[in-house]
Amino acid sequence: MARGDLALVLMAAGKGTRMRSRLPKVLHPVCGRPILMHALELGRELGATRRIVIVGSGEAEVREALAGQDVELVRQTEQLGTAHAALATRAALADHDGPVIVMNGDHPLYRPATLAALRDTWQEKKAGLAILVTELPDPHGYGRVLRDASGRVARVVEEKDCSDAERRVREVNLGAYCADRRALFELLARVGNDNAKREYYITDLVELALSSGHSVESSTAADWRESLGINTRAELAQAESLLRERIAAQLMADGVTLTHPETTFVDVDVRIGEDTVLAAGVTIRAGSRIGSGCRIEPGVVIEGATIGDDSHIKPGCFFERGVRVGSRCEVGPNAHLRPGADLRDDVRVGNYVEIKNSVLGNGTKADHLSYIGDADVGEGVTIGCGAITVNYDGAKKTRTTIGDRAFIGCNSNLIAPVTIEPEAYVAAGSTITKSVAGGALAVARGQQRVIEGWRKKRFGDGSHE
Ligand code: UD1
Ligand code: MG
Repeated sequence: MARGDLALVLMAAGKGTRMRSRLPKVLHPVCGRPILMHALELGRELGATRRIVIVGSGEAEVREALAGQDVELVRQTEQLGTAHAALATRAALADHDGPVIVMNGDHPLYRPATLAALRDTWQEKKAGLAILVTELPDPHGYGRVLRDASGRVARVVEEKDCSDAERRVREVNLGAYCADRRALFELLARVGNDNAKREYYITDLVELALSSGHSVESSTAADWRESLGINTRAELAQAESLLRERIAAQLMADGVTLTHPETTFVDVDVRIGEDTVLAAGVTIRAGSRIGSGCRIEPGVVIEGATIGDDSHIKPGCFFERGVRVGSRCEVGPNAHLRPGADLRDDVRVGNYVEIKNSVLGNGTKADHLSYIGDADVGEGVTIGCGAITVNYDGAKKTRTTIGDRAFIGCNSNLIAPVTIEPEAYVAAGSTITKSVAGGALAVARGQQRVIEGWRKKRFGDGSHE
């Protein structure tokens, strides 16, 4: 069906000057995924057999971000404009037989269907060149699409080169171009830099194609909200909110309740089961997996966690990346689960409890004010208010083991390495330095002394004020 396999070329070498950032523009995240990765993902969904990224400014960082991805990198040594960038891929694509979509790396919001339509327009209309366009409510900063009397695309003019009349045109170029490999590089080689910025503009392909007898067709992106190119922080924020809206709509369509969708921040690559409720002000970052029937209360921030079904995460909890919470758990309010926290099923963790690198077995409870770090805690254990695993001696970290159904009294310190065997009891206020046998009670605190009449002896009969 297609006139050959598709190659996708992403231009990502630009300086991104308008962002005023140390981070290369294309690495700024939108809903938890760098701008460039959104574009790359499209290539995958379009079934592109080659995906090439043009790197230049911030090359080291972009390379690092792309490590492990199935992409080819081509270097543009000097940033002389978009046509110059695209031309850098000529050698890499020398043996490519088929269409090439060259695309800005700074458009994170396209849906795959939009680019598929660009390719189909090129193919079905047997075009020399097809370009993606749309009408924007505010076209400021974009290249304007100028049409001839019969309505055919004649030229793309950059904002800086526009006359006043041209600037009023709201139809813009969206920075995605489809052409056959051979025609593309022939035309790119002829682009000059006679314009306000003295750059080689890929948009000159339109006039060059027409003057060499190729037809130029346009494909219109139906929804301007997926058309945003990112050049500034303001556009970055706008892209974030547009994509967030789209993610929220999809979650609701999938059976998730968002009580206040406009205040809920869910990244890409998050899965949430049916009948889970996300309250106002919840943040869920990329990579999180949440089961069905859960309740996530206001102000919860989940950096990356896997949560089972029917769990209740109360207000103000913070889960760092790599946390696991099972089914029917109750966590919070204000609990802090750090990397390696692994709560099995029916676990209860209450307010101001911090857990790191520890397993809590089924049905275990730590209801108030505890620190549990580097611990293996069995099933049905009760950890009293303020109990602490002392895992750090100033030089190294060591583990604490607590057996099934053990009871750790309030305000006790378990000095690791130490083992509390199953069904053992630790009395409140104990500082435990030696392991406790199964079923035993360990009391490790000073004996209570009572001095009768102490106040009178100290202060006499009168007031001591
Ligand atoms: C470009 C288009 C404009 C269009 C807009 C859509 C040109 C000349 N103009 O403008 O018509 O409306 O996109 O968003 O193409 N890049 C390189 N090497 C370079 C220069 C740029 O790789 O030498 C990359 C950038 O990293 C970026 C992309 O090309 O991802 C577009 O460059 P940018 O400077 O953002 O172009 P715009 O001014 O947005
Ligand atoms: Mg741009």
